[in-house]
Amino acid sequence: MKITTNNCEFIELQKIVDQRDGVLNIAESSKQIPFEIKRVYFITDLKYESASRGHHAHKKLEQVIFCVNGSFKLIVNDGSAEQEIFLNTAEKGVFLGHNLWHTMSDFSSDCIILVIASDEFDENDYIRDFKKFKHYLKEVN
Ligand code: TYD
Repeated sequence: MKITTNNCEFIELQKIVDQRDGVLNIAESSKQIPFEIKRVYFITDLKYESASRGHHAHKKLEQVIFCVNGSFKLIVNDGSAEQEIFLNTAEKGVFLGHNLWHTMSDFSSDCIILVIASDEFDENDYIRDFKKFKHYLKEVN
């Protein structure tokens, strides 16, 4: 599948395949990850089918999101187009640029999500209301 949403693309990590001894996946600042890494967080215990995360956009923050185990559905919306991306491999991450409304759902119970972020946590960088997101886009574009 091809990502057509603005400011969003697949990211591939460096991979070292050790045959019987597993696969090493490598993410370095400003290399495979297109920004300087300031924060890493991961999401576990996605046990409930009804679980739903995200529902926000960031004004400045850039992130790369990986499904390192299991699977889930990522929906990205750039204000004019929306796309569903099903993630079920650790091999490919998704770069989420700023000004992208995103939601995550349909997690398998063994799903583990890893996120690499360009900045420290800042609640002021969030837009948590879709109407405000659309207004914000008009202001900045
Ligand atoms: P949020 O980013 O909305 O989670 P998700 O996009 O996965 O649904 O964050 C959920 C809560 O956790 C919110 O109150 C902010 C807080 N939080 C931090 O304090 N630090 C962090 O690094 C993150 C990602 C969230």
